[in-house]
Amino acid sequence: DWTMGAYREEAVARIRDQVGDKKVICALSGGVDSSVAAALIHEAVGDQLTCVFVDHGLLRLNEADEVVAMFRDHMNLQVIHAQEQELFLGQLEGVGDPETKRKIIGRLFIEVFQKYADRIDGAEYLAQGTLYPDVIESVSFSGGPSVTIKSHHNVGGLPEKMGLKLVEPLRELFKDEVRALGRELGLPDHFIGRHPFPGPGLAIRCPGEITREKLDILRKADAVYIDQIRKHGLYDEIWQAFVAILPVRTVGVMGDGRTYDYACALRAVTSVDGMTADYYPFSHEFLGETATRIINEVKGINRVTYDVTSKPPGTIEWE
Ligand code: XMP
Repeated sequence: DWTMGAYREEAVARIRDQVGDKKVICALSGGVDSSVAAALIHEAVGDQLTCVFVDHGLLRLNEADEVVAMFRDHMNLQVIHAQEQELFLGQLEGVGDPETKRKIIGRLFIEVFQKYADRIDGAEYLAQGTLYPDVIESVSFSGGPSVTIKSHHNVGGLPEKMGLKLVEPLRELFKDEVRALGRELGLPDHFIGRHPFPGPGLAIRCPGEITREKLDILRKADAVYIDQIRKHGLYDEIWQAFVAILPVRTVGVMGDGRTYDYACALRAVTSVDGMTADYYPFSHEFLGETATRIINEVKGINRVTYDVTSKPPGTIEWE
């Protein structure tokens, strides 16, 4: 009879078989898939695995430190924290077009990953957290009509270019199985249950031109919003929730003064696979309380709106 414990042992044996005594590198994103893949491969081949965590300066509050600390200190993985915030934010300066932003981030991500990977002597394998639905999707969509709404960035094409072979230990699993495996491997529950986070990060939650100031404000507002959602016990009912900072300032009053600060939009959706989504029906009390907290606690925001668009016709992210 089939258990996740048995699957884990079998998967570990297969990875050892495939990799032998060679070195493996992995781009750790902080997402569930790459995290579980890394934890599993680490169990199989230990320090033959090195992870590279690319910090593009577009992560949430404290996210980079938390992810790196968890893998390094708690799980004992070798993790390179690639601090490349200046590079990414510098190249994105003055760029407002969504697709251009994505392309810049995707290109830099590959350059940076390659730069760090080159320092790992004799790496022969690249680990990826590809799931079964990813495998199916790339087959059933090929050749059919396709409309590209947003170019998703990943490390596609990278293995060939770098002469690396792939290790994809999650290729037979669905998302819920990956979560179960992650728990089995000792990843904390709050980490396993995290909402998906896009590769381009906060760049696509800051419509138009990105500035450090806007990113700082956005990080703080997002942290308050997620705290509210957790406090109200709603986190696990929601597929994804985040704040977008709008490229517009509005007039407000605070005490006996006039303010002229950014407006933001709260987003929360339910979904099965991210392809379609419904906005989450928060109570007015929740929304009012959250707006008050954000405006009181986050300097730079004086207006909060709630996005009630479903997908389609909207998309989940704002860009
Ligand atoms: P949209 O906004 O297209 O998002 O409705 C659907 C899901 O995909 C995520 N998303 C991305 N993920 N790179 C990613 O890795 C991207 O460029 C990207 N754009 C959107 C989004 O967060 C949602 O889960």
